[in-house]
Amino acid sequence: MKEQITLALTKGSRALVPSLSLLADIGVEPLEDISSSRKLVFPTNQENLRLMILRGMDVATYVEHGIADLGMAGNDVLLEHGGGGYYEPLDLGILKCQVMVAGLADEGVLPPRLRIATKFVNIAKRYYAEKGAQVDIIKLYGAMELAPVTGLAHRIVDIVETGDTLKANGLVPMDFIVDISTRLIVNKISLKTRFAELQPLIEALEKATS
Ligand code: PRP
Repeated sequence: MKEQITLALTKGSRALVPSLSLLADIGVEPLEDISSSRKLVFPTNQENLRLMILRGMDVATYVEHGIADLGMAGNDVLLEHGGGGYYEPLDLGILKCQVMVAGLADEGVLPPRLRIATKFVNIAKRYYAEKGAQVDIIKLYGAMELAPVTGLAHRIVDIVETGDTLKANGLVPMDFIVDISTRLIVNKISLKTRFAELQPLIEALEKATS
């Protein structure tokens, strides 16, 4: 049998549910319930297509190295990953949010050199470098909102969707950095060598999202 096309999806219900719903729109269904399984690779009703469920950063890495031919990941992850080896042909228009700078509503007088907590170290570094501001970046892996509240950092660079998490923690959005949505990425070599198989899938996704 010919090797299947591999499409890597971002794990976690927030990303997975809309990605699977988009795939269902184009007639692609996993053969078992991904959310209740510990497996990482799933066959689909399309004989030549399998799904791989990974962390967003790893979606980019697997597609970069051609292990996955295609991937769906947020451009926050892609900007942070900074890797090459793939094209980004489609904005899938799902999971829309923004990367913002946020801080305490009553932050008072701040020192000239701010401490910024974020999991988006590269995005934050680029943003402050472009502004010409000297800052110290503190890498966190989650619960960024706690950093200004506890004094670990003065501000955060994080995803804001509804703004509810900021509000619930006494923070306010301050500066917009970039709009985020889920993107389709395609390994450059796969697109050349497996064009006939990949093109119909890419076209179907394009139609379903336009
Ligand atoms: C993101 C982000 C915020 C929250 C923003 O966290 O880090 O905490 O969502 O959403 P809101 O504006 O709608 O409140 P996520 O749930 O993705 O978890 P994690 O970043 O801690 O992994």
